[in-house]
Amino acid sequence: MNDAIPPGTLPLSARAPGKCIVFGEHAVVHGAPEVVFAVDLHTQVLVRPAAAMSLNGDREATDRNPYFRAAVERCWPDGSPLEVRAVSRIPRAAGLGSSAAFVAALAAALRSARGGVGRAELAQLSYEIERTAQGVGSAGDTTAAVGGGYLVVNGGDGPAIWTVNGPEQRWEARRIADPGWVWVVCFSGIPRSTASAVRAVTARLERPDGPRLLDEFKGVAAAGLRAIEQEDRRSVAELLSRNQELLRTVGVSHPRLEALLEAAAPAAEGAKLTGAGAGGSILVLPQPGKEAELVRRLARAGGLAYVVRAAPEGVALVEDRASS
Ligand code: MEV
Repeated sequence: MNDAIPPGTLPLSARAPGKCIVFGEHAVVHGAPEVVFAVDLHTQVLVRPAAAMSLNGDREATDRNPYFRAAVERCWPDGSPLEVRAVSRIPRAAGLGSSAAFVAALAAALRSARGGVGRAELAQLSYEIERTAQGVGSAGDTTAAVGGGYLVVNGGDGPAIWTVNGPEQRWEARRIADPGWVWVVCFSGIPRSTASAVRAVTARLERPDGPRLLDEFKGVAAAGLRAIEQEDRRSVAELLSRNQELLRTVGVSHPRLEALLEAAAPAAEGAKLTGAGAGGSILVLPQPGKEAELVRRLARAGGLAYVVRAAPEGVALVEDRASS
């Protein structure tokens, strides 16, 4: 699962999973632990040589799409034209890691065509591309897209699988055993900007009670990590609620998210928003056997729900018949 991306020849296809943050979004940007899993919703890219550079037929994409531009600049420095097609099951701007999955899949395909790349280097590169495009943020989303499975960033014991270095701090990533749980994620339909939510929370944490709040985020994520490791659903459910309360306090909940949390409650053990918030999605730990009821409740409340598990594999090259 930590194998390198091997060398390949264009055309090449790669796919990467989205992510779902269980505990610690926003606080991770400020050094707190984050528990995240790669979700079994993927983005796939197909890259082939072409007469002009394009993304899904858009020849202006290097101007219009900062993720595409940053990935090409970092991984394809000679700029020879490529046709890139991307298809995704991950809703965009929904807090489920669509940009990290796109960046990791595209970087894997491009670096494969340039001789291959080790997974730790790809984690660093994907973070740098996302950071260039977004201007802010942690290495959590790209770590999940590259690593797959359950992971903790900035926490846990034992050897790190890699360390990603940012301009102000570093993020160590460690594996956590997958408890094998089914989750439900639900997109509110309200797109949000990660960068503006991160900036707003950063400003909020600079107020006098900021250090105390950050300590509470850290405590919840550390306890959440232990509860996941012990497969203790009841504690996880309680800690999801405590984490949601903290996210409300720093201002990234939203009336639509609160309405979805309320709709989910009768079929849920616990729930919170996931990702940057201010719109985006919620994550629900369903009462066992009530997954379908939960999806119906969330659909009636206007959300787009997915029943998900962890994707054990991170980004990988794939066979794509359309490429041959
Ligand atoms: C976004 O998916 C998660 C945030 O913590 C930002 C980041 O870690 O880059 C809000």
